[in-house]
Amino acid sequence: MSANLLLIVLLTFTQGSCAFHSNHWGEWNDSQLLPTIQKLMKGYNRYLRPNFNEGPVEIGMSLDIASIDAISEINMDYTATIFLRQRWRDSRLMFPGNESVSVDGRLVSLLWIPDTFIPDSKRSFLHDVTVENRLIRIFSNGTVLYALRITATIACNMDLTKYPMDRQVCTLQLESWGYNLQDVVFYWTRGNDSVKGLDTLRLAQYSVESYYTSVSEAVYETGNYPKLVLHFALRRNVLFFILETYVPSILLVVLSWVSFWISQSSVPARTCIGVTTVLTMTTLMMGARTSLPNANCFIKAIDVYLGICFTFIFGALLEYACAHFYTMQHQTIEDLYRDLLRELSESNGNGSIPIVSSSQPNQSVEIGSTAEDSTEQSANSNTKNHVGTKEKAPNQGCGLSSVRDASRKAASVFIVENPHNIDRYARTVFPTAFLFVNVLYWLYYLFL
Ligand SMILES: *[C@@H]1O[C@H](CO)[C@@H](O)[C@H](O)[C@H]1NC(C)=O
Ligand SMILES: *[C@@H]1O[C@H](CO)[C@@H](O)[C@H](O)[C@H]1NC(C)=O
Ligand SMILES: *[C@@H]1O[C@H](CO)[C@@H](O)[C@H](O)[C@H]1NC(C)=O
Ligand SMILES: *[C@@H]1O[C@H](CO)[C@@H](O)[C@H](O)[C@H]1NC(C)=O
Repeated sequence: MSANLLLIVLLTFTQGSCAFHSNHWGEWNDSQLLPTIQKLMKGYNRYLRPNFNEGPVEIGMSLDIASIDAISEINMDYTATIFLRQRWRDSRLMFPGNESVSVDGRLVSLLWIPDTFIPDSKRSFLHDVTVENRLIRIFSNGTVLYALRITATIACNMDLTKYPMDRQVCTLQLESWGYNLQDVVFYWTRGNDSVKGLDTLRLAQYSVESYYTSVSEAVYETGNYPKLVLHFALRRNVLFFILETYVPSILLVVLSWVSFWISQSSVPARTCIGVTTVLTMTTLMMGARTSLPNANCFIKAIDVYLGICFTFIFGALLEYACAHFYTMQHQTIEDLYRDLLRELSESNGNGSIPIVSSSQPNQSVEIGSTAEDSTEQSANSNTKNHVGTKEKAPNQGCGLSSVRDASRKAASVFIVENPHNIDRYARTVFPTAFLFVNVLYWLYYLFL
């Protein structure tokens, strides 16, 4: 008995819900609706726009940005949740009285609504928890307010050449899908103030710098369509990148200069600093690149900076290689010269040995002295040697003296480039050049 009753209840319930979901005006029993709506809907044709044959419907729009979740440089888009409010006047829906009627969102299908769409959206959906998030309100003067909550992923072309000092301008466009300008006109209800919520928005990496609205029209092959555009500029917060990438790379460059103050003879220490800094820099460069699109090949500001730092660090390593190479050469030439002198003096007898021994300390002093000193001293030694050659010129053959001249010439080339001066110069040249390049870099990327 009770089972029968339950079955009847269930049947009536399913029938009722079927009727509800069929959404076709003809199938509705008038008495299921409120008296007001019942009267309103009499003879209403939802397939015809308001003011049919009378000029375009004016549709006012306003937006509330609830959130902008993901601004993706890789996909070049952003995801926003917005409240879109559209209002227009449908004189067929006028009713006497003062108050407005809020209608169930499911009754939207009984009314004419504009066919607004977002042309740049890649994916979008209407929220439907717990019911479809839309609202329709009819005012007594025939004004209809239609509000929706939608989440859309919208394309935004980004220029990343100044990343991370960049400023991106994204747009949110609203267009009419089927009605052209003869049928429908769009306008922002309160000009630049039609968009709310952007000022208070908290974004992970950006801050909203400015925004404004504009009205334009979309021109397609099929005609001209109304279009509203919201432009907003996003400025990236550079502090994160300064802490994450810029400061470590600057410190690495400074670390690479430490080797200029370490003695040239400690090969392991200096090569270790050089190689370690180069490797760490490589890791930093790879880390900075992971969050960005690799496909597009344009050079970003951060790449330029990391490239500069890498060049300086690599330069410091090369500086040691050069300095070390010249030191070795310097020593071998000195040795050669010394050997040659010794040979000469041995061939000439014991009388000239003191000259050689006196020239040896001079040469060893030269190693630690400046270029001027060294040239002076080489000049001194030259005069000494000239004295020596004058003394011995009659005794020797001309072949030996020419060999000595050649070796002296060769030696003087490297004596002028005293290898210890390379370090000395590097101590000032590297920091100055780095500072100069930094000033240029920051001026260019922050102010141009
Ligand atoms: C509508 O439903 C009521 C009862 O709910 C019924 O009396 C009336 O005849 C129905 N009208 C039509 C047109 O079906
Ligand atoms: C409409 O409402 C206002 C106040 O909200 C009232 O002063 C006015 O008399 C009302 N008009 C009608 C026609 O009911
Ligand atoms: C219709 O009424 C609403 C609410 O009272 C008002 O905001 C709107 O301006 C009115 N529209 C016209 C065309 O009078
Ligand atoms: C909106 O802002 C833009 C840019 O600031 C400005 O050019 C435009 O005139 C403003 N429009 C209105 C209606 O105030």
